[in-house]
Formats: sequence, C-alpha cells, structure tokens
Amino acid sequence: MELNITRTISELFSAVSLALDIDEGVKLYRTWRVSIFGAEIAGRMLPEERKNIFYGCLLHDIGAISLPEHVIHYLLKEEMPEDPAMLAHPLIGAEIVSQIPNLETMAKFILNHHEWHNGKGYPLGRQKDAIPKAAQIISIADQIDIFMRNEATRSQADLIKALDARRNRQFSSGLIDCAIEVIGNDRLFEETREQNSLVKLFHKTEADIGEISMPAGVDVIGTACEVFSQLIDTKHPYTINHSNRVSRYCLLIALALNLYHDEVTNIKWAGLLHDIGKLGISRKLLDKPAGLTSEEYEQIKQHSVYTKEILGSITDFREIAWIAGSEHERYDGKGYPQGLAAEGIPLGARIIAVADAFDAMTSDRPYRKAISVSDACEELEKNSGTQFDPAVLKEALPILRNLIVTAG
Ligand SMILES: [Fe+2]
Ligand SMILES: [Fe+2]
Ligand SMILES: [Fe+2]
Repeated sequence: MELNITRTISELFSAVSLALDIDEGVKLYRTWRVSIFGAEIAGRMLPEERKNIFYGCLLHDIGAISLPEHVIHYLLKEEMPEDPAMLAHPLIGAEIVSQIPNLETMAKFILNHHEWHNGKGYPLGRQKDAIPKAAQIISIADQIDIFMRNEATRSQADLIKALDARRNRQFSSGLIDCAIEVIGNDRLFEETREQNSLVKLFHKTEADIGEISMPAGVDVIGTACEVFSQLIDTKHPYTINHSNRVSRYCLLIALALNLYHDEVTNIKWAGLLHDIGKLGISRKLLDKPAGLTSEEYEQIKQHSVYTKEILGSITDFREIAWIAGSEHERYDGKGYPQGLAAEGIPLGARIIAVADAFDAMTSDRPYRKAISVSDACEELEKNSGTQFDPAVLKEALPILRNLIVTAG
C-alpha cells in the first residue's frame, strides 16, 4: 500500500473537523467556513502562516469535545463563558493537537484563540502583541462565522457593524479593517453563506493552501489515529481508552489469522477509528444508560453510517472506511447498517466485532459491572455463527483468553 502521508493527514483533519461539526444530525460546516475566512485574512496579513492558520481553524475547537452540547450553542449564547469546560477548551485543544508531530505552532495558536486584544479573553488573559497574530486571525474568522449564524448580524452590513464594534476590544484595529475588507467581498460573502458553494470553496481553498508538511520516518498517521481515537473516547465518560484496546485486540487477532502487513495495519487503524461516527451523535443520547426509544436507537445506529462517510472522504482510507463502517454487521445478516452477512462483511469488520464486544463486556458500564475474561469468552462462543464469524472466533479466543485486561 503506497500511502500518501501528507495528503492523508490533511484529509484526516478536514474529515475530523466535519465530524465534530455534526449537531443533532445536521452538518454545520462551521470550521470549514472558519477556515475559508482564516485563509483569506491570513493571505493578506500573515501569508507565511497561512497553512497553520487554515488547519488551525479546522481543529481550533477540538478541545470542546467533552461539552454536553455542541460548542456553537455556547458561543451563540454568551460572549464570556463561565462553564469551566468551555474555559478549558483552548488548553485541551492545544494539548490534543500538539501530540501530532510538527503541530506545535498550530497548538500555540489554538491555545490563544479566545484571547482578546484588550486582555479580557481567556484562558491566559493576554493582551495586544502578547497574543500571536495568527491566533487573532483564527479568532476573528471564528467570530465572523458566529455572527453569520446569528439572526441579528446575518446580513453583510450588520456583520460589518458588529465586527466594527469589537475594534480595540476583541481585535486590533488593523485586523478589524482587514476582516471588514474580506467581508465586503460580495462574492466571497455569498459563497460562504450557502452550503453547496461553501463546500466547493472549501475544497478550492484546501487545494490552494496545500498539504500540511510532516516529518519523514515517523509514524504520523498511526499517531494521528491514536490521538483522534482518544478524542472519540473522551466524548463518552465510560469509554476511555476503549478504541485503543479494541485496536490492540484487533491487531493480535489479525496477526493470529496470518494476514498481510497492509491488512494488519488497516485493521489496527480501523480499530482505532471505528467509533469516529459517534462524534456526530449527541452526548445526551450516548450517555443514556438504558431505555432508549426505537427512534433514539436508530439515531445511535447512524454512527456507523457517519463512520463510513467520514473515513471514506480520505482518499487512502477507503478500505479502512469500509471495515470500520461495517463493525456492527452480524455474521447472520441481522446487523446494521446494511445487513451484510458472512463473507459479505469485510474480514476486518468481523474482527472488530469480536474485539469490540469483548472490550464492552470486560469494561464497567454505568448500569452493570465488567464480567471476567473467561465469562466474556464464553459469551462470544455462544454467539458464534450468529453474531460472530466462527473462523475469526477460533483464532481470537485463545488470544483473548490469555490477555491481561486493563479495562476499568
Ligand atoms: Fe473556541
Ligand atoms: Fe460502534
Ligand atoms: Fe466500539
């Protein structure tokens, strides 16, 4: 498999940002719009940081993942948040992003993206030139998106007025002038308003900006998958490290099945990202311990569709998307989302199904305690040929029985 690393990482960022922008089943395209404005303003004021600003805009609110509602609801409501999770989101975001090689500068911009020119921002309370210029550009691009979502400031003229009122408060005078010039571009303004033209413009900007540079000789994609898997698991308090364990079990089972190197890697990464579609499902629903209505259950099932769609937007992840999006299929054809059966289900997905169920059973849940490894294996065996592939189970069981499980 000839994997294009810089293209994959760049597409992965766009995909994750899109997943983070699903609110109650609706794609907001929020960070895509922020990136367009960020790139536009950066082109005029700070061209040397255009790339970091564009990708920084995409990931700037990644630290808001643990908020009960989508971050946009908080931003539309109040200028200065009091919620500790909201106040911490620039710190958390910087921490997440800095774990990926080469992204320290971007992480610094994210850390500063809620600072105000007059020192009244958060979390550091920095002012004027102490705030990196690039962070202020991300911040103003973000603010433009927020104004465009707000009834009172939706028109071009009202938006310009609203921005002007932030002069020397949230932003420097020079930055306000530049942003007003950008907003004054009728064509750009119209194109960012409507979803279809916004998506087109985003891809055009993305192509123009170019791929993010990454150091050679480092497993950048593997690291990024791990970082994003932690992000997925943080969304749900009971699934900390779930994806990492599932991936570890998948890897061992794939090795026991004598699969080729590329297949093993695909299954390992699919294991890390199998629940990425959950980013698009509301936490209220994910945290509901039991008693889901059938409509709610349908919404939760939607995560598999999102997973396939999100990962499928990455050129070199098509196979991974196919595997990860099929992990809830059952061997007897009674699973979802497509009702595939037996060998019609990708092998990687049949492996994840076993690993996922094993980890769920051996982890505590709010409504039940973890069961022992041997009880979990017995349960898997009971469902051989119905839920699980007997051939996969045959190789998986000796592995799982001998594991030292660290799930809590
Ligand atoms: Fe933010
Ligand atoms: Fe799942
Ligand atoms: Fe899972």
